[in-house]
Amino acid sequence: MSTIKEQIAQMTLEEKVSLLSGADFWHTRSIPRLGIEGVMVSDGPHGLRKQDDAGDHLGINESIKAVCFPAACASTASFDRSLVHELGEAIGDECQHEQVAINLGPAINIKRSPLCGRNFEYMSEDPYLAGEMAVDLIKGIQSRNIGVSVKHFAANDQEHRRMSSDSVVDERTLREIYLPAFEASVKRGKAWTLMCSYNKVNGTYASENKWLLTDLLRNEWGFDGYVMSDWGAVSKRPCGVEAGLDLEMPGSNGINDAEVLKAVHDGRLDEKYVDICVEHILTVHERYLKNRKPETPWNQEADHALAGKLAADCLVLLKNEDGILPLSDADSVAVIGEFAVKPRYQGGGSSHINSFKVTSLMEALSDKTGVTYAQGYNINSIDEDEALTTEALKVAAAASKVVLVAGLPDSFESEGYDRKHMQMPANQNALIEKIAAVNPNIIVLLYNGSPVEMPWNDKVKGIIEGYLAGQNVGTANRAVLYGEVNPSGRLPETMPIRLEDTPCYLSYGGEGNTAVYNEGIFVGYRYYDKKKMAVLYPFGYGLSYTTFDYSNLKLSADSIKDTDELTVCVDVTNTGKVAGKEVVQLYVSDRESSVFRPVRELKGFDKVELQPGETKTVVFKLDKRAFAYWSTEIHDWYVESGAFEIQIGHNSRDIALTACVDVTGTREIPVTFNEDSIVMDIMANPKAGAVLQNIMKEKLAIFTQPQEEGSASSEAISDEMGLAMMQYMPLRGMISFGGVTHEQIAQLLAAINS
Ligand code: BGC
Repeated sequence: MSTIKEQIAQMTLEEKVSLLSGADFWHTRSIPRLGIEGVMVSDGPHGLRKQDDAGDHLGINESIKAVCFPAACASTASFDRSLVHELGEAIGDECQHEQVAINLGPAINIKRSPLCGRNFEYMSEDPYLAGEMAVDLIKGIQSRNIGVSVKHFAANDQEHRRMSSDSVVDERTLREIYLPAFEASVKRGKAWTLMCSYNKVNGTYASENKWLLTDLLRNEWGFDGYVMSDWGAVSKRPCGVEAGLDLEMPGSNGINDAEVLKAVHDGRLDEKYVDICVEHILTVHERYLKNRKPETPWNQEADHALAGKLAADCLVLLKNEDGILPLSDADSVAVIGEFAVKPRYQGGGSSHINSFKVTSLMEALSDKTGVTYAQGYNINSIDEDEALTTEALKVAAAASKVVLVAGLPDSFESEGYDRKHMQMPANQNALIEKIAAVNPNIIVLLYNGSPVEMPWNDKVKGIIEGYLAGQNVGTANRAVLYGEVNPSGRLPETMPIRLEDTPCYLSYGGEGNTAVYNEGIFVGYRYYDKKKMAVLYPFGYGLSYTTFDYSNLKLSADSIKDTDELTVCVDVTNTGKVAGKEVVQLYVSDRESSVFRPVRELKGFDKVELQPGETKTVVFKLDKRAFAYWSTEIHDWYVESGAFEIQIGHNSRDIALTACVDVTGTREIPVTFNEDSIVMDIMANPKAGAVLQNIMKEKLAIFTQPQEEGSASSEAISDEMGLAMMQYMPLRGMISFGGVTHEQIAQLLAAINS
């Protein structure tokens, strides 16, 4: 068998170039004379969308019957690494069975705004959480020798003008918010492939962005797989080849291949770039081809059951007044809402799975006596239907408890366009209020991929955020409603009170083709916490049918260097009467900083199962990145020496225990002062400050001497003002105010910069 390099050496330029784009919608090309096989790729990310016949990237044509697992909005809410690993293994097995080499997911863009049409496919507003969950999902899929395609790289956080929009994001924001989940997917998840996004990143299409695809991805992060384009994301193919876009999908009927050939012939593109792309693609495909297992069984019923089991651990209990949940068999329960028989359990677009079976809530409750049903509203309308309302009120009034299933219809959120508002259909909101008025024992169960405004929040006793839970949604809902499973999901995003509160409300979607990320690093809870704003439900929030207490928080040291690892231990006890799972969350808070920083940032979490009365110790390891920010001066992660608080919380707004650690940064940011440097900055530097101090005493005394009370100058210049004027004065100001010469300033600079 010849090596890939030897195979490439035997190829003509035309053959090599042919491998750089898809053979059709879902296959890569083959070269039979050299024994090179093409492979199949399929969406992704929460199941298998394998199209046997006509291909399309929008979920229009039918794909094979498959299993729809919880969408990422839901599976991330589990905060359970092992859960997404198991989900990945199942998807990997299905791919092996169907001979699909690469599953096009996970999708890990940051939920910058609740309005993004694809939020249901994405994981979180928090980069650490998205990265952690992505890594285990990737490991699960790839454990079956199936590749992932982590998408959409990068800063693809809106659907509006998705193929032309330019995401203008500053360096620090990119590094701290929009890139870390990709970085984790590459460095720790060892993703086989990445999919570049449609949009531009700071002026250059992702598909031809050398900084993104080569400098960062390969040279800095050590990526050894290949990058494919999102479907139709290519602009100038030869530029893409040189920038690091290995594979164009789905191909362009040979048009872009011809461009590449011409560019090589004209000397505009070095053939070596073509060779590099081919090598990347074939190396990854070989991992699959050498480990093909079409004999892997695919028991769809078993995967349906798995989808239901996983979904139950994703549901988030938001409200449980008077312990209205769990329901008991003694309750007479009115289930209201068309969603209870026609659930919305996945989003629209390229991720759309052709489910072989769907279990609705009403089907899952079929063995329960004492359960009644009324439709209540039409899913595909926003108008109230009087007859349906009347019937629902009657059914609700006759029951001891009401479960009202509500949420967003398909038309309200989808790939391809963004939402215009955060409201649920008016008919559903109205129905909730009317039912609450006739029966206060009402629980709202939500099906939605992204936050909604809940004007009825105070009028209902129970709320379950059900997200888009996959095709076995009903089984999962029943299990949580009746306490067969204790809810343990936590919000991977903040539920704001209203759209106007959201961090990028003023600029989301952009102007024309330009979307400036004005809010910078203050995304999600980083924004709400900094502004001390009330939110409906905070990031990390979720209730249980039991209660948990934290104690015994211990740090391995009181002070560390940023090159050391800090171990954090905390005990968590189930203080209630039933078994349950708690998500212990660790946030780091920098007490003082010279740059703007969020109040706290998630840097660790663990999900633990506890029997009543049981205690377990949770251990976290924190390294430099937990304390660092991205410095735009050194273009690297930087820890500023000082005190950091380690906060252990039930959620981002309920911190139970704190401890403090002093961290010493081992790297200095080199500073060079010049004529424009101000006194305050120079004084902050111990060496330079000492030199300057002497001169200041003499030359700038007018600003530093306290003014005599009642004197004319004391009225004009307060001590504060004098101090401020002195502190903020650039060195060149000493020429005007201190009788200093240019030469003397030059000497001073030489002394303080030496
Ligand atoms: C989507 C991708 C998807 C691809 C193939 C594109 O429209 O953005 O996420 O993988 O189509 O269906």
